[in-house]
Amino acid sequence: MPQMTVIKPKSATVIKRHSRPKTDAFSAKTTTLEIKNLHASVNNQPILKGINLTIKSGEIHAIMGPNGSGKSTLVNVLMGHPKYEVTKGTVLFNDTDILELEPTKRAHLGLFLGFQQPLEIPGVNLGTFLRLAKNSNLKSQKQPEISPADFLKTLKENVAALKMDDKFMHRAVNEGFSGGERKRTEIVQMSLLEPKIALLDEIDSGLDIDALRIVAEGIKNYFEKNSPGILLVTHYQRILNYIAPDFVHIIANGQIVKSGDRSLAKELEKKGYTNFLK
Ligand SMILES: Nc1ncnc2c1ncn2[C@@H]1O[C@H](COP(=O)(O)OP(=O)(O)OP(=O)(O)O)[C@@H](O)[C@H]1O
Ligand SMILES: [Mg+2]
Repeated sequence: MPQMTVIKPKSATVIKRHSRPKTDAFSAKTTTLEIKNLHASVNNQPILKGINLTIKSGEIHAIMGPNGSGKSTLVNVLMGHPKYEVTKGTVLFNDTDILELEPTKRAHLGLFLGFQQPLEIPGVNLGTFLRLAKNSNLKSQKQPEISPADFLKTLKENVAALKMDDKFMHRAVNEGFSGGERKRTEIVQMSLLEPKIALLDEIDSGLDIDALRIVAEGIKNYFEKNSPGILLVTHYQRILNYIAPDFVHIIANGQIVKSGDRSLAKELEKKGYTNFLK
C-alpha cells in the first residue's frame, strides 16, 4: 500500500498570489516579533552578529543566505534552543521579552518552528504528541482542552490537506518518515497549533515537485486563514512563486546585509551571493 496519495502533476497550475486576509477576530490582535541587535554564539563561536528584523502578523518574510551564514541559528535562537548562547540584543514578542523564556512558553505565546531537519521521536505516537501539544497551548490560553474525538477529526482534515495517509497519525513521530514526509508533518503540526508567528526553516528542501506545491498550499491556506507572521528560510526562489513574500532578506556571516522585495530573490537566483558578501 502506498503511504501517500499519489497526485497527478499539475505543472500548468499556477497558484495565485495569496490574497491578504480580511481583518477578523483573530487577526484584529496583531502580533509583532521584534529582533533587535541579536548576537548569539555556539561553543563560544559567534554566529549571529547583530540581527535586526521585525515580523508582524500578515507579513511573509523570506530569509536567504549561503550555507553556514546563520539562518538555522537565528530561528533556533528565537525558539530557545539551549545549544545557543545569546550574548547581546533583545527579542520582543509583542511586549514580552522572550529570551529568558523556555521554548514551551514561547510556543504558548504563539511561536512555532518548523525544523530544517525534524527529529525522530521513537515510541511517541504522532497523533498523541500533537494532541498533547495542542492541549498544552489551549491550557496556557485558559481554554478548555480539545476532546480526543474532536482532535482526531481536525487532525484527519489537516493530514488529508497535506495529502498524507491517515496511517501517519498512528506512527511514531517522524520515525522512518522520508525527508518529504517530515516536511509535510511540520506543516500539519503548524496548522494544528495555530501559531501567530511561524518560523519555517527550509520547509522546501527535499520535496519533490508535487510535494512542494502541496506544502506551499498548506502554508498559504494557513496564512489566509489565520494571518500569522511568517519567516521562511529558503535557498530557492521556487517556493516564493507559490508563497509571495512581502520582504526578502539576505543573511551573510551572521548579519542581514540586504533587504528588499521579491525581486531580490530573483536577482539572487541569477547572480548568486557574490555581490552581497563582504
Ligand atoms: N556546535 C557548533 N560548534 C561550532 N560551530 C557550530 C556549531 N553548531 C553550528 N555551528 C556553525 O554555525 C554556523 C551557522 O550554522 P547554521 O546552521 O545557522 O547555518 P545555515 O545558514 O542554516 O546553513 P544551511 O543553509 O547549510 O542550513 C555554521 O558555520 C556551523 O558550522
Ligand atoms: Mg540551516
